[in-house]
Amino acid sequence: MTGNDLDGQVAIVTGGVGHIGRAITSVLTERGARVVVVDLIGAEVANAVLALVCDVTDSSAATATVAEAYCLHERIDILVNCAGGGARTGFVDLTDHVWFAELNKNLSGAFFFMRAVLPYMLSAETGAIVNVSSISGVIGGLPAKGSDGRSGPAYAAAKAGLIGLTKWAAREYGGRGIRVNAIAPGPVLTSAVMHGYDYGVEDYPIPRMGRTRDMAETVAFLCSPASSYITGEVVKVSGGVGM
Ligand SMILES: NC(=O)c1ccc[n+]([C@@H]2O[C@H](COP(=O)([O-])OP(=O)(O)OC[C@H]3O[C@@H](n4cnc5c(N)ncnc54)[C@H](O)[C@@H]3O)[C@@H](O)[C@H]2O)c1
Repeated sequence: MTGNDLDGQVAIVTGGVGHIGRAITSVLTERGARVVVVDLIGAEVANAVLALVCDVTDSSAATATVAEAYCLHERIDILVNCAGGGARTGFVDLTDHVWFAELNKNLSGAFFFMRAVLPYMLSAETGAIVNVSSISGVIGGLPAKGSDGRSGPAYAAAKAGLIGLTKWAAREYGGRGIRVNAIAPGPVLTSAVMHGYDYGVEDYPIPRMGRTRDMAETVAFLCSPASSYITGEVVKVSGGVGM
C-alpha cells in the first residue's frame, strides 16, 4: 500500500539535510507524514514541517530535540536515523580521535535518538524506527577501485554495530507495537560518493549506482503498515552487491 499510508504520522529524520535524508523527507511527506528534520547543519529542507539543529552525538541535545518535536506535534510515530558518514582512513593509521568520532556519528547518535523516542512510542504502543546502516557494515567495507577507495574500518564497525542495536531493540519492543529495521545502502549517487570513487557498479547484478530515491522508498516501506510483520531486518538496497 502506498498513497497516504502515513497520514497524520509524525516522523523525525536525523541527517535530514543530507542527500539521502532529503529524499527520505520527501517520500515520507508524499505519504502523508509530517517530518521534523534534525541535522548539524541548519538549512531549509523542502516539505519538512520543522528543522532542528542538533549534533546527534550530544546525548542531552538529542533528548531535548526529541522533546521539542513531541511538544510541537504531540506524537512521534517514526524515527529515521540517517545522520552519519565515513572516513576512509586505513586500519593502522586510524587515530583514536577518528575512531571515536566515527562510532559516535554513526552509532551513538542513533542510540541517543532511539532512547529518547522510545518512551513516547511505548506509551502510544506503536512506532517504527529505521536505521540507515551501510553495506560496509555487512561486508566489512565497500571496495572501490584505487588505493584509498574502500570505506574505513571505523565506519564498517559503527554501521555493523548499528545493525546489532537494531536487532536488539526489535527483539525487545516487537511485542509492544514497535518495529525496528535497518537499510544497508550500497553506493548511492550523492555528491560525496561522486567525488572520484569508482565502485565498478557495471559488474553489480543491477549495474548502476543507487539513487537517493531507492533508499527513501525502502525506508518509507519499512515505516508503513505494509511492513507491519517485519522487524529486526536489514534490507540491502545495493543493486545486489553483498547478497
Ligand atoms: N552515500 C552513500 O553512498 C551511502 C552508502 C551507505 C550508507 N550511507 C549512509 O547514509 C546516510 C546519509 O548519507 P548521505 O550520502 O546522504 O550523506 P550526506 O553527507 O549528504 O548526509 C549526512 C547528513 O548527516 C549530517 N550529520 C553528520 N554528522 C552529524 C551529527 N553529528 N549530528 C547531526 N547531523 C549530522 C550531515 O550534516 C549531513 O546533512 C549516512 O548515515 C551514510 O553513512 C550512505
